[in-house]
Amino acid sequence: MATITCIEDLRALARRRVPKMFFDYAESGSYAEETLAANRRDLEAILLRQKILVDVSKRSTATKILGKPAAVPLVLAPIGLCGMQRGNGEILAAKAAAKAGVPFCLSTMSVCSIEDVAEEASEPFWFQLYVMRDRKFAQSLIERAKAAKCSALVLTVDLQVLGQRHRDIKNGLSVPPKMKLANLIDIATKPAWIKSVLSAKRRTFGNIVGHVEGVADTSSLGEWVQSQFDPALSWEDVKWIRGAWKGPLVLKGILEVEDAKLAVEHGADAIVVSNHGGRQLDGAPSSISALPNIAEAVGSKVELLFDGGVRSGQDVMRALALGAKACMIGRAYIYGLGALGEEGVGEAIGFIRKELETTMALTGMNTIGEIGPQVIAKSGWPRND
Ligand code: FNR
Repeated sequence: MATITCIEDLRALARRRVPKMFFDYAESGSYAEETLAANRRDLEAILLRQKILVDVSKRSTATKILGKPAAVPLVLAPIGLCGMQRGNGEILAAKAAAKAGVPFCLSTMSVCSIEDVAEEASEPFWFQLYVMRDRKFAQSLIERAKAAKCSALVLTVDLQVLGQRHRDIKNGLSVPPKMKLANLIDIATKPAWIKSVLSAKRRTFGNIVGHVEGVADTSSLGEWVQSQFDPALSWEDVKWIRGAWKGPLVLKGILEVEDAKLAVEHGADAIVVSNHGGRQLDGAPSSISALPNIAEAVGSKVELLFDGGVRSGQDVMRALALGAKACMIGRAYIYGLGALGEEGVGEAIGFIRKELETTMALTGMNTIGEIGPQVIAKSGWPRND
């Protein structure tokens, strides 16, 4: 196996080890994938300002996220079907996050259930809520998250309907996978994946199947989500959720200043500036381009998290410089999981931590708290700052 030194290497290995149907599911954005591309393009366009001869011998990436110490300003983002990248994927990721000292967020659409993860995780984890048409079910998920002592509730607000991912339709993405000939042939070439999934606790939506009346199993993921997710979700629902959950409430999927202000008015403790990794509104701006205005408007009133395209410590530095307190990573850790399981998730976090440490040194930063717009080079070529 070639030496692995960065997230891109984990991605290349995951591509070989995870069945195409699930690798493509992780990789894809919606429609023409313009927003997916913009997330990376706009991060890469932010230049960092070198600062020399500053004593950086005692620098630290330690910080606090939602009041709790974190070793790195990172959170593992909620990822549906994490357990299809590798059997028991959610448990493996939660363990790796705990070891690395960062929070893990479990998705409503996970394979392992809230209870499965609570049983195995050594640290409290966050729970991400999708509100379904059946509000009693949403209420019951909140109760289950409380019972599992989840340390934050993340309400995702940018998926009232599902943005279409062409590759999921072409691959016939379903849970568990459909045994079409092409899928069978592909899966047959992924023995480590077969072994891990066959020995896993579950192979379908652990939070849902058996908990929602009439849902015994799911066929086409897209169809099922379209039928269950509630297009009527509104700020009124945020009010009752705020009332039902006393712990930290995070609103995920905000791109506009007016929505960020409404989130603050509705009692959010944190927001995630996010376009769902380019998987929802195609044509939306990159999330990094949305961050500065939101930081200016509400940065002092609410904790600002950021995601979309983060693949390195340099990217984390860019987001922190523009006002984020911490970054969520999605694909970056999913690639690690698909490539090498728990160890791969640890490597993904470790690569980003080390890159951030080095980037801090080369920009003259000793603490996460001092990172701000001063590390950004104001103009490209020719420079005139
Ligand atoms: C996601 N995302 C997501 N978000 C959420 O709130 N609930 C979910 O179940 C999922 N599921 C999901 C699956 C997959 C495969 C991906 C790639 C993403 C969005 C995720 O939490 C996060 O916002 C993005 O992944 C961030 O972008 P990057 O880091 O993947 O570029």
